Amino acid sequence: MQTITSVAELRQVVGLARKAGKRVGLVPTMGYLHEGHLALAEASRKQCDVTVVSIFVNPTQFGANEDLSTYPRDFQRDERLCRDAGVAIVFAPDNKEVYPEGFETFVEPGELAKPLCGGFRPGHFRGVATVVCKLFNMVQPDAAFFGQKDFQQCAVVRRMTKDLNLPVEVVTLPTVREPDGLAMSSRNRYLNEQERQRAVAISRALLAAQDEFRSGSRDVRNLIAIAEKHLKPLDKLQYLELVDSETLEPAESPLKRSATLCVAAYIGSTRLIDNMTMDLPVSIGEGAG
Ligand code: PAJ
Repeated sequence: MQTITSVAELRQVVGLARKAGKRVGLVPTMGYLHEGHLALAEASRKQCDVTVVSIFVNPTQFGANEDLSTYPRDFQRDERLCRDAGVAIVFAPDNKEVYPEGFETFVEPGELAKPLCGGFRPGHFRGVATVVCKLFNMVQPDAAFFGQKDFQQCAVVRRMTKDLNLPVEVVTLPTVREPDGLAMSSRNRYLNEQERQRAVAISRALLAAQDEFRSGSRDVRNLIAIAEKHLKPLDKLQYLELVDSETLEPAESPLKRSATLCVAAYIGSTRLIDNMTMDLPVSIGEGAG
C-alpha cells in the first residue's frame, strides 16, 4: 500500500494503473475509519482492481460552530486498517493541496441540499459537493463508494455527478451498525458511556417505524409518531422527517413510493444522524417494460 499526499503523484500512479487497463475505485472519507468505511473499501476491492481511500477532513463542509477542530483523527491507525483491507492507495492531502491560495470556485448543489441537514447546516453540502467533485477529478476513478448512512449526501453526490457529466459510477452501500443497532460513525467517539447507551434510541425509533410500515401502515403521521415515541432519551431532536427517497420532499400520505425516515438528534453536544428507507413491495405488472 502506498500513502500519497500530492495530486501530481496520485495522478501519475493512478494514470499508470488506468493505462494498464485497471478499474479504479475511490472511497472518500474524513478518516477515523470504522467498519462502515471498511465495508465501502471492501466493496471497491471486489468491484475494482485498484482501491483508493482518500482521507481528508474537509474544512469547507464544516460550519463556523461545528467540530472541525475536534474532529477525531488517527492517521496511523487508519493506514493500518486500509493496509489490512487490501487498499492500494491512501490519498491524504493537506489543506493547501486541496485548497491552494486563491481557491474560489465551488460546486453549488440545488434543491436536494435544502431540506433535512441542509436546513441546519448551511453551506455543508456545498462543501461536500465541492470536495467530492475535486476528489473525482484528482483521482479520476471509474467508481466511487458512498454509505447510505449519509442519505442526503448520496442524493446530492448522485445529482452532481449526473448534472456535471462526471464519468464516475456512484455506488451506495447499506449502513453498517453496531450490534445494538447504532449506526457506526466517527462521531460516536464523542459519546460517554451513558450517552452511548442512550444513542441506541435513534435506531430503535427507525426500526419501530419500519416494523409498523412492514405490518402495513402507510400513514406518514402514524409512522413518524411511532418513531418519535422512542426518541425521548435524546437531548434534542433536530429533525425527524419521512421524505420521498428520490426528491427528498416530504412524503405524501398514504405512501405510494419509496420513502426514507431521516433523523438528526443531539445527545449531549454530539449531533448524530441516521435514516431508514421504506421500500414498497413492487406489485405485479409494475416496473415492467
Ligand atoms: P465520512 O463521514 O468519513 O464518511 C465517509 C463515507 O463513509 C461516506 O460515504 C459515509 O456515508 C460512509 N459511512 C459513514 N458511516 C457509515 C456506516 N455506518 N455505514 C456505511 N457507510 C458509512 O461522508 C464524509 O466522510 C464526507 O462528507 C466526504 C464524503 C468524505 C466528503 O468530505
